[in-house]
Amino acid sequence: MPIQIGDTLGDYQVTGVLGRGGMGKVFRVRNLVSDREEAMKVVLPDLDENVALADRFLREIKVHASLQHPNIAALHTALRIEGRLVMIMELVEGVSLEETLRHGPVEIPVAIDYVHQILTALAFAHARGVIHRDIKPANILIAVGGVIKLTDFGIARSTGAARLTGVGLAVGTLAYMSPEQIRSGQVDARSDIYSLGTMFYEMVTGHHPVQADTEHAMMNAQLSVIPPEPSAVNAKVPQAVSAAIMRALAKEPGLRFQTALEFRAALRDIGQAGFPAPVAPSATAASGATAATTTELAELEARLSRAIGPIAGRLVATAARRYTTISEIRQALAGEIDDPKERAAFLKTAPGVKTDPSVTATMVARTPTAAAAFDPNKLDRLAQALAPYLGPIAKVVVSRAARSAPSAEELLNALAAEVSSEGDRQRFLASVRSVF
Ligand SMILES: Nc1ncnc2c1ncn2[C@@H]1O[C@H](COP(=O)(O)OP(=O)(O)O)[C@@H](O)[C@H]1O
Ligand SMILES: [Mg+2]
Repeated sequence: MPIQIGDTLGDYQVTGVLGRGGMGKVFRVRNLVSDREEAMKVVLPDLDENVALADRFLREIKVHASLQHPNIAALHTALRIEGRLVMIMELVEGVSLEETLRHGPVEIPVAIDYVHQILTALAFAHARGVIHRDIKPANILIAVGGVIKLTDFGIARSTGAARLTGVGLAVGTLAYMSPEQIRSGQVDARSDIYSLGTMFYEMVTGHHPVQADTEHAMMNAQLSVIPPEPSAVNAKVPQAVSAAIMRALAKEPGLRFQTALEFRAALRDIGQAGFPAPVAPSATAASGATAATTTELAELEARLSRAIGPIAGRLVATAARRYTTISEIRQALAGEIDDPKERAAFLKTAPGVKTDPSVTATMVARTPTAAAAFDPNKLDRLAQALAPYLGPIAKVVVSRAARSAPSAEELLNALAAEVSSEGDRQRFLASVRSVF
């Protein structure tokens, strides 16, 4: 029996349809016990009987359940109702990127912001050995406030898990599939980077990087057609952004950004170079944290310039466009100070600073995270633990990651993401557990 609006399934009342994809249908539901509105995903009725698909859905649920992150639609629970498997998720009130793109390209700073958030979610998933494999606009939801929620782990694969084949549905969507995915289905994190590069291209130009009329032509195009540079399609796209997109779209995985974190770092560098900041309000702003005041910013600038000289002014202005609260801005700027003692002193809130809540700097922000300051001895221990897997570059990798990781946990995840096999990743994580 197909599910209809008004139906009650167990403790859930179906109040609307949120969307459907190749495999499932997603309903808006009300939990009759808590009164909370949630999203319920079910397998399409005609696919319900298919054992392989039921297995796949179960695996989707398990993979999704293992990923709790602010940029991934939260799985609340999964249960069987009258023998039918359903997944209950956070209701994302907003639109999908697919719908957004129907109205044409998005502003470049907004596109950078979205891609940055998607990369944060991907870095998190990749660090846990999960490759999404179906990164495309329909699977990117944009919640109120411009917060990205990645969803649909329907064909995601955990490293080491057996691959489900012969299920009879096209796995992934050709227009966003990487060449290696089309060729062999053997993918790693770099395949998600390619798919994201395709979306990024579409966001800033309004056009798909390769055009094709048939599936076969699309496959060939993904394998061999080099798209025109985004800056050649839309003159407003800055060269650095265009180059980053082209790098993500390299046919050869070895020529792409090798990790989501590397891609994200490149976007941050573009931001540092003074590119106009994104306009979406940050999660922090939405949660009610107060924005930094001009008085606080002036004080911060004075203290930073004592440590690094007159460039402080420009750095404060850039950070203030990217982050919201004074502590986020302070944390971000601390990464500019090389001397650990000076950095620690800078991170301490200055005594007696009066803030004037009536003077709110008109800054916008997007990244609720900022680099934390880590004890250099701990970083040395991390580099030693990482060296068996990465060789002499371990030290550089650790210091680079430490400049952008907002917490010890994210730092460890970022480092684990650099280790290529799941077994080694687990061994590395076990060996550093005592560091923090
Ligand atoms: N948590 C959610 N909140 C709101 N809408 C959602 C949610 N999850 C999915 N949707 C909508 O339903 C559509 C299909 O969901 P998806 O998980 O991608 O299913 P499929 O595996 O069939 O592609 C999405 O494109 C989106 O529009
Ligand atoms: Mg989908």
